[in-house]
Amino acid sequence: MDKFLLLLLLLGPLPLVFLQAQALVCTVCRSFKEGHCLRGKDNCTANSVSSCRTRDFFFFSDRDGWLYDHTELDCAMFCLSSNLFYEQNKISSYCCKNQDFCNRYQGKLMIKNIY
Ligand SMILES: *[C@@H]1O[C@H](CO)[C@@H](O)[C@H](O)[C@H]1NC(C)=O
Repeated sequence: MDKFLLLLLLLGPLPLVFLQAQALVCTVCRSFKEGHCLRGKDNCTANSVSSCRTRDFFFFSDRDGWLYDHTELDCAMFCLSSNLFYEQNKISSYCCKNQDFCNRYQGKLMIKNIY
């Protein structure tokens, strides 16, 4: 057999193993509120350009200031931890890829960190 072909056959599965080792599993929830995932509970897989993401959604009230509404958990490409302001809304994003399910809902900690 051609030496090059043989080498290709031997090395073929290697990149696959590498990709699998890199895969990171994250929590998905379309609407998380009061300690429960109300809608769209699932898992997603992040790769070298994506991360696990937690987003807290707030809205502004003249009387009470920023009020927490709900949280969304997913995987995102080129994720950056940040606060995004849009009219009367604020979206606080937290990104991580240090371990599987690292974006799992963090409870009140997440909310306290905002102020
Ligand atoms: C998500 O992954 C966890 C741990 O691997 C598993 O127990 C759970 O069934 C998965 N959930 C879904 C919706 O795939």
